[in-house]
Amino acid sequence: MTGASLRLCRSLLQRCPCLSGTSPNCLNPALTSSIMTRSLSDSAAPPAAIQNPEAVTKQSVSQGYGGIADTPRLRSSLNDTEVAKFAAIAETWWDFEGPFKPLHLLNPTRVSFIRSALCRYFRRDPYSTRPFEGLKIIDVGCGGGILCEPLARMGACVTGIDVVEKNINVAQVHAGLDPLTSSIEYICMTAEQLVGSNRKFDAVLALEVIEHVADPSDFVESLSALVAPGGATVISTINRSLRAYAAAIVAAEYLLNWLPRGTHQWSKFLTPEELVLILQRASISVEEMAGFVYNPLTGEWSLSDDTSVNFIAFGTKEIPPTM
Ligand SMILES: C[S@@+](CC[C@H](N)C(=O)[O-])C[C@H]1O[C@@H](n2cnc3c(N)ncnc32)[C@H](O)[C@@H]1O
Repeated sequence: MTGASLRLCRSLLQRCPCLSGTSPNCLNPALTSSIMTRSLSDSAAPPAAIQNPEAVTKQSVSQGYGGIADTPRLRSSLNDTEVAKFAAIAETWWDFEGPFKPLHLLNPTRVSFIRSALCRYFRRDPYSTRPFEGLKIIDVGCGGGILCEPLARMGACVTGIDVVEKNINVAQVHAGLDPLTSSIEYICMTAEQLVGSNRKFDAVLALEVIEHVADPSDFVESLSALVAPGGATVISTINRSLRAYAAAIVAAEYLLNWLPRGTHQWSKFLTPEELVLILQRASISVEEMAGFVYNPLTGEWSLSDDTSVNFIAFGTKEIPPTM
């Protein structure tokens, strides 16, 4: 998948004139900041320190979770309307037939993308039962913990944060039911608040969250600040395409009643090109991208090169020249 995904990223970059600095008009109007362009790195290999799991453990040792310092540079990611929507349905996170059924159905496919991307990057054995042993991973906007739990079972030292306290409570109670997941650290806070504590993670994940925050660029800046140098980021969201409007809003919310009506606002979706740009501006190079495609006959999702509706991006954080 690596080759195909890299080709996909490159073709996205070539198709988007924004990246040559000639046409900022194809950006979401919400993205108001100036554009900096960088080319995609050819190699997705981690730095030497991260190739060695012991070095990872040393490098990733938490710098201590003290008080939350003021972080005036990072603006709040909170969108009160969006947060209220999730607070209203927090108790249903682990109801497989409830409003989060689509995420439960999608979960194995996105976990498989994350597993193969992180194993490749951190040089882990994908056939191991605990390939993420020693890696510190944070799931930002973790909801009820449906992604945190499989990551913990794969050996990662997992932190999940979310702004909705009820989500964190549900996630904590559910994780406590299994000794393999009971060590997950759940905290009710935003990414920008955690940045103030100066903690760093080997991988920072934010799945299906960026379309619910106040400003995607500010949010990604905060995510980037949480990534250890040479660490990784995974973000998934919904494309701002007509197909996504038809599938993720009209069909999922109005025809199939999969999601509560009003869950998504089309204008908050990002195109893959926009996500690549936002990440680049936050010093994260996208190395792989894939689409998720739903088969209505089998009820299953699979990975695809088709990013026209749901898609996921894997990126790596640049190492500052001084290191
Ligand atoms: C669609 S859910 C996705 C949950 C989880 N990432 C998953 O994919 O299973 C979006 C989550 O983001 C959380 N959220 C929304 N805005 C947030 C913010 N500014 N900071 C952190 N979490 C946020 C919501 O409370 C909700 O749990």
